[in-house]
Amino acid sequence: MFLFLLISIFILFLCIQHFIVRRRRREKGNKDFSSKPFSSMPGPPSYPIIGTLPLYIYYKKYSLNRLHWNGRSKEYHWTVFNKEGKYPSRRSHTALAYYRSSRPQKYSTTGLLPTNGAEWRRVRTLLQKPANRTSISGLISSLNLVAEEFVEYMDRHFICVNKDDFLDHLNRVFLEMTGVVTFDTRLNSLQNPLQRILYSKTESSIPYRLIKAAEETNDKILETDNNLPTWKIWETKPFKMIRESQEYIEKISSQLIQDKKSQHMQEDCPRTLLDHWLSSTGLNDKDIMTGAAEFLLAGIHTSSYTFSFLLYHLANNIQAQERLRNECLELKSEFGEISREYLHRAVYAKACLKESLRLNPVSVGVGRILPEDTVLGGYLVPKGTLAVTQNQVICRFAEFFEQPNSFIPERWIEGEIMHKEVDPFISIPFGYGIRQCIGKNIAEISLQVLLMNMVSRFSWSWAGTKDLDTVSLLINKPDQPIRLKFKKID
Ligand code: HEM
Repeated sequence: MFLFLLISIFILFLCIQHFIVRRRRREKGNKDFSSKPFSSMPGPPSYPIIGTLPLYIYYKKYSLNRLHWNGRSKEYHWTVFNKEGKYPSRRSHTALAYYRSSRPQKYSTTGLLPTNGAEWRRVRTLLQKPANRTSISGLISSLNLVAEEFVEYMDRHFICVNKDDFLDHLNRVFLEMTGVVTFDTRLNSLQNPLQRILYSKTESSIPYRLIKAAEETNDKILETDNNLPTWKIWETKPFKMIRESQEYIEKISSQLIQDKKSQHMQEDCPRTLLDHWLSSTGLNDKDIMTGAAEFLLAGIHTSSYTFSFLLYHLANNIQAQERLRNECLELKSEFGEISREYLHRAVYAKACLKESLRLNPVSVGVGRILPEDTVLGGYLVPKGTLAVTQNQVICRFAEFFEQPNSFIPERWIEGEIMHKEVDPFISIPFGYGIRQCIGKNIAEISLQVLLMNMVSRFSWSWAGTKDLDTVSLLINKPDQPIRLKFKKID
């Protein structure tokens, strides 16, 4: 009897202990009690308020505009994304958020890019509905028209080598594509190509000013994010540039929305993003204007920089360019027009884009504010810390990719000798999960459509004086003009 009582007490003790441990684990998330404190995590010394700034400014150990070369011993942790929860949060675009929140007459939220929490989720759910692959595929023929026009434009005005920065022309074509997909509007960005007007101070065309406004905002975001927010007290120069650029983007977006509204009632079948947004009951006029302005802000340079790097890698890898051309010609003879099925079968084109984004993602990393204490690499990182995965660094680790600095599209194609299964978290150029890039389908389809059009009409080689690298602004920009030597294919 005594023995029975003793065993029962022992079992009860085990149950209680198990219950307490489970409860603690639940309360503390994945807090591993054997993990080391965050303060002992190896890394550069960080001081209160100024953080690691002296290493950049005084000791010049790191460079603020070459973030991808800073600290080559980064680790990657998919745990960051595993924990992101219902409202994945980032910390960026603080000046843009401040600008928008101080204008409640125009904005009901601070927009997708800077907003976190339930308000982000509400707007995101509604805005993203028409941006899915099927809906965007319905716009392939409109995008193809723009791409055809662009190769004609190149042909007609033969883009000069070593004089023009090809990026100026790419900005125009991606603005045009964003206009078609978002507003169903032609902005006529491909007119007057020979006037080297893009950097002329007197230029007042809508396309020129939109490209410039988007570029100026993007260029100033990192500067305002990384410095003390003095712009909340007085209008600093970078804040002024953001304000003026945003006012222009707002003005044009509102005009285009008004134009669409006047036609909208007559149309039965929604096609573009704006058509869908206008017929959505959950979105108010301010939400729609903010969404449209953000697509103009985020859609042009992300795509033109990505395309620049893609052209650069193909210019330096003539065999890859040839293989791509052959794929394109075969698909053309089978399908004629570029269609959804055509793009689906363009395996090599997709691999080229993936490989180029591995080597040169436009986003240097993907950030998440940790919603709970999280163990990363054995260290307990406190809730509220901004953890950034360094896409561009990790993607060049030899442990993940053979010949990591070489452009080898074959590594992404099943059945090829170079193919190897890769952890999907290593290369995430469009981010991850429910907060990943809302324009991913627009970007992928637009880039592929343009690539197929260009490769069937031209061959090209690199005419720059040195290798192309990136400058870290908010997005990674080519660090020199895009100089390419084009040759027409007979
Ligand atoms: C190659 C082109 C592009 C790349 C590589 C890219 C990359 C990214 C990345 C990495 C993010 C952050 C995702 C995350 O936190 O998980 C993002 C967010 C975003 N992108 Fe893109 N993007 C591209 C093109 C576009 C286009 C064409 C548009 C719109 C027309 C767009 C609109 C946005 C917006 C609005 C967000 C914020 C989404 C949110 O926070 O909910 N992007 N993009």
